[in-house]
Amino acid sequence: MCGIAGYVGGAEAAPILVRSLKRLEYRGYDSAGVATIHNKQVFVCKDAGKIDEINKSLGLERLPGCVGIAHTRWATHGAPSKVNAHPHLDCTGRIAVVHNGVIENFLLLRKELIDQNHNIVSKTDTEVVPHLIEEHIKRGLSFEEAFVQALKRLEGSYALAVIFLDQPDTIYVARKEAPLIIGVGEGFNMVASDMTALLDMTRDMVFLHDGDAAVVKADGYRIFRLSDGTQVERMVRRVELTIEMAEKQGHPHYMLKEIFEQPTALRDSLRIQREYVDLLAELLDKGRVIFLLGAGTSHNACVAGSYLFSALARLPSYPVIASEFVANYGGAVGSDTVILAVSQSGETADVLNALEYARMRACTILGLTNTVGSTLTRVSRAYVLQNSGPEIGVAATKTFTSQVLVLAQIALRLARLRGKIAQYEMDEFRQELLKIPNEVEKVLTTASVKMRALAEILVEKPFIFMLGRGVSTSTAYEGRLKVMELSYIPCVAYPSGESKHGPISVIESGVPVIFVVPPDEFRKPNIGNIMEMKARGAYVIVFGDEKDDELRSIADFYYGLPRTHPLLTPITYSIPFQLLAYHLSVLKGYDPDKPRNLAKSVTVP
Ligand code: F6R
Repeated sequence: MCGIAGYVGGAEAAPILVRSLKRLEYRGYDSAGVATIHNKQVFVCKDAGKIDEINKSLGLERLPGCVGIAHTRWATHGAPSKVNAHPHLDCTGRIAVVHNGVIENFLLLRKELIDQNHNIVSKTDTEVVPHLIEEHIKRGLSFEEAFVQALKRLEGSYALAVIFLDQPDTIYVARKEAPLIIGVGEGFNMVASDMTALLDMTRDMVFLHDGDAAVVKADGYRIFRLSDGTQVERMVRRVELTIEMAEKQGHPHYMLKEIFEQPTALRDSLRIQREYVDLLAELLDKGRVIFLLGAGTSHNACVAGSYLFSALARLPSYPVIASEFVANYGGAVGSDTVILAVSQSGETADVLNALEYARMRACTILGLTNTVGSTLTRVSRAYVLQNSGPEIGVAATKTFTSQVLVLAQIALRLARLRGKIAQYEMDEFRQELLKIPNEVEKVLTTASVKMRALAEILVEKPFIFMLGRGVSTSTAYEGRLKVMELSYIPCVAYPSGESKHGPISVIESGVPVIFVVPPDEFRKPNIGNIMEMKARGAYVIVFGDEKDDELRSIADFYYGLPRTHPLLTPITYSIPFQLLAYHLSVLKGYDPDKPRNLAKSVTVP
């Protein structure tokens, strides 16, 4: 996730843009840059680092000119560095582009442009855009036509702002699956990824739709559809939110914003680079022993990953808690061991310590992380980025569901490599994978209200049980962690089958037990476990299929979810747990964004 902004009007653009970038910094903060046009020249200033630091050392806000675009970056393609920072230019230095999103077919476009003698200098996906526009201008198109034709070549997501030396009074913008807003002012207009970047200048905003493009000048703007050029009107809305509320997109907490952002995060996690997924799958397939290693939520994703690898690719793997790895398996690893380390931050000390040990014993280390340039990316032989954007709430939410989705994609790749399940099963699974962001969107329409009601029932309980079977064990584990870390209510999670080997002795009248029961082959034994709990007076809560009336009739509280592939239910079924945890925290008067005693990145062992 990155942030973009643009200004065209009567004032100096750069100081306004730097202030906008500061507001967007929460969207990414590894590098930043500004481009302006003044006196028939394009000025660009950019570097790796925080906006304030770059501004201090290079004077971002001193760039001259009354038109400009700006960018703050959260790296997805290419490490945080000056050359990879936006804006990006074409070969002539006359076209400058900033971009938020992921261009999936950039490798192909890049090759094509290099064959046409374009000088591409960065490792980013974005840089193909100014060169594509340049290429169309060379063929005789007007700038606007070249802009539209170039965009028609892009696959993936984008919010783009472009300036062109020969039209120093105009910003061209477009959006597809990434937010973009026009800020309407008196004698100026602005564009930005979100409201916060505009609120210092104006409260009148136009929210562009997917597939919209616009030509923005100081005294007006024209919006049209990229597909066929039809001009469209979009309503100007007056925004009354405070800047703080706008940063959270109207939600009272970052955690809630991040929970509701999951459909977008998951769409981005489906856009990960294929060649790295292939490489990871090939290296995993070569291992004699395979460990999936992580801490906290990332470990819970590893548990889900292990079920996915086994069910789809018939590949056994051990999910292991990072801090236990050396003690438990240290003596048994060697050059035939492959470790896939999962870490949102890529900096968790327990993970890095385990990997350091494994590296000394010649194990192959692979990584799945959200953070480009993190230590995990440097110690891994190969890694893949989950593309979830920055997560500000301390509790992992969107990063968990994205991790599971990436592990599912690796599992599918492994399945194709190993050929142990039928082609139609692989194809069906792929179809279900692609549908997941929409299914999550459906869950989010009902889950918050239902979980608020459940939170009111559970808020005074001294402890809560969570049970699931098969891959739902990982959902129960993640549910336990979310509810416990945010509500401070002690929680216990087990595979359902294990509950009668001890934990059931705790059950007495009114003890809450949450069962995770998607419609898979474990539904029947789960019903057996539910009846055992009910017989002992438990208050039985079930998260199950929305059409499962039998389950609904035996539960004291039922939350029905849409049907997805059973192996993908850790993604959909973890969402009610996230919202239950959130509402419990709020009901108890705690801050869900900053649970006590916790840090976002645990860099001590
Ligand atoms: C829980 C949570 C933590 C992290 C854990 C690992 O909500 O956020 O349990 O999952 O500290 O962090 P990463 O994934 O950065 O290694």
